[in-house]
Formats: sequence, structure tokens, C-alpha cells
Amino acid sequence: MKCTRCKIPAVVALPSHNAAFCKDCYLLFAQRLVERAIKEHQMCDHADRILVAISGGKDSLALSWQLKTLGYDISGLHIDLGIPESSPIARQYSERFCDKYEIPLHVLQMTDLHLSMKEVKKRVKRPICSVCGQVKRYFFNKFAVENQFSVVATGHNLDDETSRLLANVMRWDMDYLHDLGPVMPAKKGFAKKIKPLFRLSEFETANLCFLAGIDYGYAPCPYSSKASFPVYKNLLLDLEDIQPGRKIHFYDGFLKRGRKGFMPMDDEDITVHPCVECGYPTSTGQCGVCRLRSTMS
Ligand code: AMP
Ligand code: FES
Ligand code: ZN
Repeated sequence: MKCTRCKIPAVVALPSHNAAFCKDCYLLFAQRLVERAIKEHQMCDHADRILVAISGGKDSLALSWQLKTLGYDISGLHIDLGIPESSPIARQYSERFCDKYEIPLHVLQMTDLHLSMKEVKKRVKRPICSVCGQVKRYFFNKFAVENQFSVVATGHNLDDETSRLLANVMRWDMDYLHDLGPVMPAKKGFAKKIKPLFRLSEFETANLCFLAGIDYGYAPCPYSSKASFPVYKNLLLDLEDIQPGRKIHFYDGFLKRGRKGFMPMDDEDITVHPCVECGYPTSTGQCGVCRLRSTMS
């Protein structure tokens, strides 16, 4: 197997792209996918102060490495969720990576805020993953807005995005379908959010880490076994095996042709006000995280 670009022996085959690459050409290929995503969706430019949500896993580390390599102004935010089995490992990988690549890293410790997921799980009836997702989104946004970051970047990859899309299509969840995409513009107290890795599959980001020498952590969340997305992820992986390229066509097609069908009928936005306790935008008096905190105290 030869590299599609330079014809020396290839180290990775990518049936989805009908290509194979040597190490250097793979790194260039991955970089171009990120540059393309940023450009075609006007995600950010070199004047932006970008806050990268760094979990310590392969996606957020590959994203940080790639944005840093491309010369963007980035800082990291790690949320230490207070899950004894996984959080210390995730934090350690995040800190080690940011030290090595001289990326400023901010850490928010949920235990200090009485929001450790270990305790939340004991007290709250809702599925823990959805509470945890809400808490993470809250702090990504709050930290960005309060510290003058213009953009929040997360490491969601093509498998994350397509499995979420398929899950929401299966439920015909109109609100989620309308909000799905690689960019959420800034509005009313919410920072702009971007997903520059959306063109790379999980395999491709893992490969990027491996070939770029990025040491990433694997600390699966002990609570997330019941999440439904892995089912859709596996279905899509099987489909991709039979029809290489299917995932990105599904997602690109949704962005180009499908999504507009899910826009709300009236363009009246839900009215949002600052939360009475923390100032976070909310449609009720007290935001979801402040309500959670009152349950916990
Ligand atoms: P997940 O929802 O775990 O698939 O993560 C999606 C993205 O959210 C990751 O690629 C990170 O950018 C971000 N993220 C997840 N967990 C954390 C965390 N504990 N701290 C900071 N960012 C996170
Ligand atoms: Fe949040 Fe598992 S990482 S519940
Ligand atoms: Zn609040």
C-alpha cells in the first residue's frame, strides 16, 4: 500500500476517503480537514481568543494540538467532574498535555462547587449523563463569557455528530435537529461554539494523536454505559464499512439540505433573562445549574 500523495509506503488506509497516507501526508490531510471545516463554516480566525474544552481524551487533545499548530490563540478549560474512577486520570492527561505544549489551562473543580457527579448521581433522579452535559455546557459558556473568550471549541468528531443526528432523526426531535451543527453563533449571553473536528472520524482523530505523538488518556466514564448514542455509533460504523464515505455524506447533506426543514415556524426566540442567582441566560427565573445546586445543598 502506497501513500496516495507521495507514493512512499503508507501507514494508514482510509477507505472513506479512498486514500492511504504516510505519516507526514496523513498529518497534512488531517490538518486540511480541520482548516476546511473552519473556513467553510467561518468558525474562527486568528484574532479570536479561543477557549478549548479539554477533557484529556483523544479528541480534545487532537483539537488543541491542531489549533495550536495552526497558530490560533487558544487556552484550555478542564472540568474536573469529581468522578473518582475517571476524573483524576482525565485531569492528569489534560495538565500534562497543556504543560508540554505551553497552552494555558484553567481547571474548574466540581467538588469545590458541591457539584461532583459522584454526589449529583446520588441525589438526582434524571439520567446522570444529561445532568453532567448540562453542567459542562454551563461552565464552558460561563467561563468563556466572563473571561472574554470569543469562541468555545469542543472536540466533537464525525462519529459524535452523526450518531447524535441519527438518534434525533429516529425520535424526530425537532428542537435538537434544528440546533445540531458544527457552529452555534453567539447570542444573548451565550458564547459562539464550534466543532472543528467534525470532518474527522474517531479513528482519524485517534490516528492523528498516534502519528503526532500526543499522549491521550482513556478513562471511560463509569456512569455512561446506558447512553443511547453508542448504539447509533456502532450502526453507523457498520454502514460505513459497507458504504465508505456514508457518514460524512449523511452529515453534509443534513447541513446543506435537511436542517432548514427543522427551523422553528415562527422566528420568535424564547425570551431569556439572566438567572436571578448567577446571571446565566435562562427562560425561567433560576437556571438549571442553580436549581441543581439548591438540590445539592
Ligand atoms: P463528550 O461529551 O464526552 O463526548 O465530549 C465532547 C467534548 O466535550 C470533548 O471533546 C471536549 O471538548 C468536551 N469535554 C468533555 N468533557 C470535558 C471535561 N470534563 N472538561 C472539559 N471539556 C470536556
Ligand atoms: Fe458525565 Fe459520565 S462524564 S456522566
Ligand atoms: Zn443560575
